[in-house]
Amino acid sequence: MEDLKGPAYPVVNAHNEWDPLEEVIVGIVDGALVPPWDVILEATLHEEELWDFHRKYGGSPWPDELIAAARKNLGEFVHILEAEGVTVRRPTPYDFSKPLSTPDWEVKSSCYALMPRDVLLVIGDLIIEAPMGWRSRYHEHLAYKDLCKEYFEKGAKWISAPRPQLGDQSYNEGFVAPREGEPMRTILTEYEPLFDAADVIKCGRDIFVAQSSCCNRFGIDWLQRHLGENYAVHEVEVYDTHPMHIDATFYPLAPGKLLINPERVPHVPEMFQRSGWDILVCPEPLMPETHPMYNCSRWISMNVLMLDEDRVIVSKGEDTLIKALKDWGFEPIPCSFYDFETIGGGFHCASVDVRRRGELKSYF
Ligand code: NVA
Repeated sequence: MEDLKGPAYPVVNAHNEWDPLEEVIVGIVDGALVPPWDVILEATLHEEELWDFHRKYGGSPWPDELIAAARKNLGEFVHILEAEGVTVRRPTPYDFSKPLSTPDWEVKSSCYALMPRDVLLVIGDLIIEAPMGWRSRYHEHLAYKDLCKEYFEKGAKWISAPRPQLGDQSYNEGFVAPREGEPMRTILTEYEPLFDAADVIKCGRDIFVAQSSCCNRFGIDWLQRHLGENYAVHEVEVYDTHPMHIDATFYPLAPGKLLINPERVPHVPEMFQRSGWDILVCPEPLMPETHPMYNCSRWISMNVLMLDEDRVIVSKGEDTLIKALKDWGFEPIPCSFYDFETIGGGFHCASVDVRRRGELKSYF
């Protein structure tokens, strides 16, 4: 069927990060809790001073004023998306405050439904519930079940990767994160397949993944085998002392335009140079060093969201990046987001593309 905009696409249809965005899931701040202490936090939190904060306050609601400020930012983000013609869907509020356990472990609570990007990997018309490496995020997919059921009813494919065990065998015993300059290592063993959906970034038939403290090689192999021969899953070499998620590190923004974090990508995969891609080096973030950040680094500035090949939502205050994006030919749309970033992540983290207007192609 065709309408004025061209052919109709399946209800779930996302092949890359830049085809025109039609529908997106955006997380909610309702019921968000400080992530409780979880073995993986030592490996993913850049600031060691935060360990005590999570040990002490993990499982409690964030202070009201932080939630109110984050809610305001998220409201502005949703407003921009809707004003630009994108349908915004939200997860179902869920009580994440109960303790949870399996025969192998227990944690004080779950976390939130703030970050759909970590939970659901959408590739083409397929939704994959990710086999996340966090005990505290074991049930987070429950907030998205209503949406997944609806998309399935409307024709999408929907699977859950093998539910991980997350016992002691899944984590390197006595793990200590490397100091800057020491060889990269992560906390995960290869006991079982693990990844967060945000460890993966799409570029048509080529999918890029970086190992992190929530993504192991077994998880990458699982993904390649399940996606099959239409896709090539490439592991990207990154350097990060506390690696978690690829989308503040390595981000194909549009055909021929790869944004990289200058501190974290020692070698851009050869296929990009061979195919004449421009390598765009993200400028130093401008967020003040004193701005409180509980889960991620100031490089969250890179965590933009593309509305199409040109329009890009970017954090207000990141003027150097905004100027660079203009120089690179994009149309930046600034949105206040520092207060949301305080409790979690950026625009890409807070959303997951459900439908973009485009087809599966190769860009290399
Ligand atoms: N782990 C990254 C954020 C990923 C969205 C960082 O802290 O910079």
